[in-house]
Amino acid sequence: MLREAGFHVTEWTEVRPMTADELIQLAKEHDALLCTLTDKIDAAFLNACSHLKMISQFGVGYDNIDIAEATKRKIAVGNTPGVLTDATADTAFALLLAVARKTFFNHKRILKGEWKTFDPNKHLGMELKNKTIGIFGMGRIGIEMAKRCAGAYGMKVLYYNRRRNSVAENELNARYVSFDELLRSSDIVSAHSVLSDETRGIFNGEAFLKMKPTAIFINTARGGIHNEPDLIAALQAGTIWGAGLDVTNPEPMDPANPLLQMENVAVLPHIGSATIEARSAMARLAAGNLVSFFKSGTVPHLVNPTALDKP
Ligand code: DGY
Repeated sequence: MLREAGFHVTEWTEVRPMTADELIQLAKEHDALLCTLTDKIDAAFLNACSHLKMISQFGVGYDNIDIAEATKRKIAVGNTPGVLTDATADTAFALLLAVARKTFFNHKRILKGEWKTFDPNKHLGMELKNKTIGIFGMGRIGIEMAKRCAGAYGMKVLYYNRRRNSVAENELNARYVSFDELLRSSDIVSAHSVLSDETRGIFNGEAFLKMKPTAIFINTARGGIHNEPDLIAALQAGTIWGAGLDVTNPEPMDPANPLLQMENVAVLPHIGSATIEARSAMARLAAGNLVSFFKSGTVPHLVNPTALDKP
């Protein structure tokens, strides 16, 4: 799309994120940047590359970008909302089933030659019918996760959000509760919020202590929302029952992380949006934001509208 629209495009093709210096050097030779969550677009980068006209994020979340600093420099920032909602909610739901039935752990038992017999008492999971799902961050993805849980298992839906969500309340009979009540009353707590100063590390030791000892914690949003050492300690102590993570803190996760050996844990390498459909649509939106900006001065999915205000 970009080349067809007449852009000169340089692609980073190595299987590792760019270093800060590499990113600056390359960005200096270009008018715009199409980036992902592994590119740290902070004040230092923006100081060095204040000539950029637009930054197009390949993703819905943009916590890797200092939006205030970009806006100060009149750099428009675009993102790709909506198109990865189902893919990410499916990942959260898949993780929930994987944790509840210990599927990752049991798969590893086969690989290790530990499938010796049918044992009626070992490696037992839990059923999900009629449980209570607590959604932390009732946006597009949170609603889709709640729909899957209510539709498949008749789950009761509780949610905590910055503001009330009438669609969730009307369509799913979801009940708006305090963060504390969400923790105390949910059988499953699934995180779908943005990563912000407000949510960073909010799932810490104190929060896990408020959850039921039979509870499952799911995070498909951002690893920074949970405190990983606290999560490990809570699982080891039996403070909560299990966890399913598509996002970790830090990423990539160290292969020696104890979470990877736990029976009631399932970890994926940040693949929430990794379907052919979602990734193709994200690519189209990210490129479309750039094409539209340079052709007409408008950005269909603009994160910082004031960046386009006339001086
Ligand atoms: C996003 O879009 O924010 C996801 O985390 C990456 O696809």
